[in-house]
Amino acid sequence: RHASILFLCHPDQCRFSCSLSLSESINTATMRDMTTARILDGKALASRMRESLTAEVAELTEKHGRAPGLAVILVGSDPASQVYVRNKKSGCEKMGIASFSDDLPADTTQQHLLGLISELNADPKVDGILVQLPVPEHINPDSLIEAIDPGKDVDGFHPYNVGRLAARKPALRSCTPFGCMKLLQETGMDLHGKECVVVGASNIVGRPMALELLLAGATVTVAHKFTQDLRSHVERADVVVAAAGKQGLIKGEWIKPGATVIDVGIHRLADNSLTGDVEFEAAAERAAWITPVPGGVGPMTITMLLANTVEAFKAHLGD
Ligand code: GUN
Repeated sequence: RHASILFLCHPDQCRFSCSLSLSESINTATMRDMTTARILDGKALASRMRESLTAEVAELTEKHGRAPGLAVILVGSDPASQVYVRNKKSGCEKMGIASFSDDLPADTTQQHLLGLISELNADPKVDGILVQLPVPEHINPDSLIEAIDPGKDVDGFHPYNVGRLAARKPALRSCTPFGCMKLLQETGMDLHGKECVVVGASNIVGRPMALELLLAGATVTVAHKFTQDLRSHVERADVVVAAAGKQGLIKGEWIKPGATVIDVGIHRLADNSLTGDVEFEAAAERAAWITPVPGGVGPMTITMLLANTVEAFKAHLGD
């Protein structure tokens, strides 16, 4: 009886005069049976965003007589990086963005790379520059990132762009966290005052993700490899962003009923299927919203890279 009432009314103002509180009327097991998360479909959102960006690129190209340009630097032959770079270039092509690629051997020197970045910084056809990470051991990635003109840093990794986000004046924003924010917007949730727990503190995802959530008014906790009792943090989160890079680290039973779960993890299993940092099925029984793997955060990351390239292009042309 109470189960059906739950979705018709607020427990404090039950129009059937239900005098029991939510916790008295519904035990946790019933709640679990009733709750199945809505899927936050990153593939669909990415596709809608790409469609509108494609139209914008066509219009801007016509107006300014040139297309936006993205330069992608790949050093070495890491198979995963090769796939990512191929997808980035094909994303550009489909959107009408010109892509310039430098696929360099693993023994390329730091000096050569710095020279290349300097040329690309000066090239007026190039609006965005990215160095695919990781780079070989003998290369210092930070010095490459810092050599990129911040106005062309479409990955949002340059300390200038990270600093702009920290100072609440975002310029070019890191693609994966920016994509996660777009997914969170899809839920219609107001993030002000929400308890958000980011699991993972990497430069690429966890740290900028925390800054994005803070900018949106959330109360943010960043958990990392030294965090004690991860479970206790996840259990009180209204929003969990899992970006630890550890398959199944976040147990479904830790998820607070009604929470939103964003899974940035991506792991290939022995049967060739993909999975994330969160135990999906068990988490989906408790969450209100959850991103699938694949088809959640992944498709948003390249979309935000393309969006950043269009933003950089507009800034360069004063549009
Ligand atoms: N390697 C893994 N993720 C990324 C990313 O977002 N940008 C770049 N440049 N390299 C990566």
